[in-house]
Amino acid sequence: MQEILPGIWKLTLGRPETHTPVRHRLRKPAAKPAFAALPAAGDCPLAAAEIRGGATTRGYELFLPMRDDEQFYGLGLQLLSFDQRGRKKTLRVNSDPCVDLGDSHAPVPFYVSTRGYAVLVDTYRYATFNFGGAVPKHDRSADTAVQPAAAVNTNLETLYSGHAGPAAASVAVEVPAARGVTVYVFAGPAMLESVRRYNLFSGGGCLPPRWGLGVWYRCCGTFDQQQAAAMAADFRRADLPCDVLGLEPGWQTHAYSCSHVWSKKFPAPADLVRTLAAQGYHVNLWTHAFTHAASPLYRSLYEHSGDYEVWKGLTPDFVQPETRRIFGEFYDRTHVALGVSGYKLDECDGSDFIATPWSFPEISRFPSGLDGEQMHSAIGLHFQETIDQLYRRRNLRTYNEVRNSHALAAPYPFVLYSDLYDHRQFLRGVVNQGFSGLLWCPEVRHAASAEELIRRIQAAALSPQALINAWYIKNPPWKQWDRQKNNADELVPNHAEVEAACRDIFRLRMSLVPYLYSAFFRYWSEGLPPFRALVLDYPTDPQAATVDDQWLVGDRLLVAPVVANTGNRRTVYLPAGDWFDFWIGARMEGGRKHEIEVPLGQIPIYVKDGALLPLAEPGLHAADPAGLRLTVRVYGDGCLPLTLIEDDGVTYDFEKGAYNRLDLTWDPAAKTGAATRTGTTSSVPAYTVTTWRPGPMCGRHSCLSSA
Ligand code: GAL
Repeated sequence: MQEILPGIWKLTLGRPETHTPVRHRLRKPAAKPAFAALPAAGDCPLAAAEIRGGATTRGYELFLPMRDDEQFYGLGLQLLSFDQRGRKKTLRVNSDPCVDLGDSHAPVPFYVSTRGYAVLVDTYRYATFNFGGAVPKHDRSADTAVQPAAAVNTNLETLYSGHAGPAAASVAVEVPAARGVTVYVFAGPAMLESVRRYNLFSGGGCLPPRWGLGVWYRCCGTFDQQQAAAMAADFRRADLPCDVLGLEPGWQTHAYSCSHVWSKKFPAPADLVRTLAAQGYHVNLWTHAFTHAASPLYRSLYEHSGDYEVWKGLTPDFVQPETRRIFGEFYDRTHVALGVSGYKLDECDGSDFIATPWSFPEISRFPSGLDGEQMHSAIGLHFQETIDQLYRRRNLRTYNEVRNSHALAAPYPFVLYSDLYDHRQFLRGVVNQGFSGLLWCPEVRHAASAEELIRRIQAAALSPQALINAWYIKNPPWKQWDRQKNNADELVPNHAEVEAACRDIFRLRMSLVPYLYSAFFRYWSEGLPPFRALVLDYPTDPQAATVDDQWLVGDRLLVAPVVANTGNRRTVYLPAGDWFDFWIGARMEGGRKHEIEVPLGQIPIYVKDGALLPLAEPGLHAADPAGLRLTVRVYGDGCLPLTLIEDDGVTYDFEKGAYNRLDLTWDPAAKTGAATRTGTTSSVPAYTVTTWRPGPMCGRHSCLSSA
């Protein structure tokens, strides 16, 4: 066991493979002071003797300790389960997980234990993690249960009770093909610190540009330049906040693989980007990696791609620096130079679960030396790197979407999304993302009712990316949420009302941007996930350990969305300490469950007792000066100060210290607030606190009864 950074130990067993996430890493760990700010780690939480491994005919097996009282979280974007204890998961990249076996858009061989440590198994392989099901044989002949029973037991419940709960003392991990593996152990003292260490080890979390935290709208995939411009103008006329418009440039003229060249639908893309920018929009382009022979990139990528085609296109080997250079320079010249702000990196996952399985086979070979199995885990990360580099070189931040990610992803400004649509699973995604250095968006496409649409938009608005993905509907979903009717232009008669409800949600998102921005700043500087499960902040609370439909935003907001189509009531668990209902200001006791009724216009949000919560005037986009004017709500005695970050919001100059801190504090005796600026960075937009006031009190209590 070698301590490589404060609180992070490395153990190498056997002969690890050449191609692994850590060996390939392109981002350095965060600087030492970030680690030093964490609580001292002491000794490694796992002793080297507790970790065993060995080569087998199938690859490499690894055993890590597991105690009776221990629970496990993580393994990347697991949409189907939360606590992994007792489960067996094979971490395979896949866009259509049917059952809870580990398939995921972003499987990550990383888990966190309630004992306050985390483990990264450094592999791209489809590793299997068995949290208790692998019980080694041992002589049981002396067990009492072996003695003849007085009566024959036919009660299934008693018989099956022997199945319940894993009996193994190890987490058994199998890494196919490998002859050894490197394991990294991250110390706590509690789970949250071990996750923070992992994020800092990855390079620190990303800080999106401010505009990335506004509202996103992806236009219908068939839209041409005029239609996109018309919709953008409509949104402004309708006073709808929106920062990013997603476009499909139509580079599949020849096949589904891409030419990466603007189609005839967009005859003057530079004009379009300029017109949209003048209205405060950023443009995000849909794309995927598979490159058609009609592409100007085809010839130069031919030698730098795998030996199997996908949709008649090449699979670029982004692990090679030369591939990233070729692809990146072309994108830079033909899109980024025109002002395009980011991309949606589609299709980099693949699926075996649909009628026509797609993507490159595991038997593929790539020039970098990876096989297809390894590349499935590596391609998303390296595609993200290819794009992010373009913007870094221009000293511009970007915020994007991606459908595949893996280990050490925290520094990449990319949010995962899915074609799946189960709302309950989408919410679990927001809860689970924060364990493994990922960001996830429960995007909204269509709905069966106005109510479902609003519940979905509310949850998306309190997630890392407030995204409406209208790629298969012509009109905005608030005008018609049913897909077929929308495309037949059969608009809902009362759509103005529904649009108003959506506008309110978008305005709520805009008012939270300063708070979200400071939460992301802590992701970058401290590795603290901006969106996370309750159990990370309340590790000794057994009730918090089971909550997978509520999440924390920053350090003082708790969100408990209503799952679409489940009515207007839900049970909310509030952890220890008092909380305030965001909407009506009522004080609610923590450490217990509350049965609440939720009016359609409200998403349940709770504010921690003592919190200062800045809310901006909601502008139409992030550069709107309204967003700098703040009302600070004071909850309880206001003893929980908050630091906001002021910087240019778009470049990487903050990494060199070009930002100011604005400390918000409250004096309960004098009932006055102060906003104290530190830092001498001039010419960055500065906040003004216009009002300090107690959290709203309307006398109504949303709490019906307590469970
Ligand atoms: C899918 C993607 C959708 C949408 C569509 C457009 O693969 O997941 O969100 O972008 O492609 O063609």
